Amino acid sequence: VKVAVIVVAAGSGTRLAAGAPKAFVPLAGSTILEHALHSVAGMRDEPHVIVVAPAELVDDARGMLSRVIGRGEVVAGGATRQASVAAGLALVGDADIVLVHDAARALTPSALFDRVVDAVAASGAGAIPGLPVSDTIKRTADGGAIVETVDRSELSAVQTPQGFPAAELIAAYASAARDVTDDAQLMADAGHPVAVVEGDPLAFKVTTLWDLRRAEELLRPASA
Ligand code: CTP
Ligand code: MG
Repeated sequence: VKVAVIVVAAGSGTRLAAGAPKAFVPLAGSTILEHALHSVAGMRDEPHVIVVAPAELVDDARGMLSRVIGRGEVVAGGATRQASVAAGLALVGDADIVLVHDAARALTPSALFDRVVDAVAASGAGAIPGLPVSDTIKRTADGGAIVETVDRSELSAVQTPQGFPAAELIAAYASAARDVTDDAQLMADAGHPVAVVEGDPLAFKVTTLWDLRRAEELLRPASA
């Protein structure tokens, strides 16, 4: 099967507020995007790689892609994650399976990409990584009054890479009727089944400074 991986890196990183678009923020001697690309480079099969970058950083992203993977394409993103994914989807060519991955999940193990590819190849349907939720979750009303405790056993906190049959994902994007932050939601809107497969704690998203510090800590060489 032919696999394409779209790495979306065109966000501004408002919540991180680190002075540069998030994927270009330094992390342990390189950038968040370069870490994410190292994970893609470690995949079992060689996918077609598409990086979606802020328009003004397309050249920088091209340099990082050529250093880390040595092949692939870079395209300018849009104002929303959905628009950025759509820009990447235009370049998937004849891929059978498309994985969409957040550059911000910088420490995602390569094995998780392979697990998602295997799940899509085996089922012919979408597969996304998820982990059990460890906090007790309350549904609240305006003002904070608790309406109910949500049954945690039914919940998954989902991650990327999210994998889909290419034709289905392209069609779902073409018919998208609303703006969502998650590709599985668009697939569900289009009536396609998507399953959750076991995620990985290392696929956490760098959203805030706290997450960036956690990533730095995890990458710190063990002291002698
Ligand atoms: N993304 C993108 N294009 C956008 C918005 C987001 O490619 N217009 C990408 C980000 O680069 C990131 C992933 O989607 O890798 C997940 O988005 P998020 O964590 O929300 O990143 P940002 O939108 O950059 O951060 P913030 O919401 O704090 O501004
Ligand atoms: Mg965002």
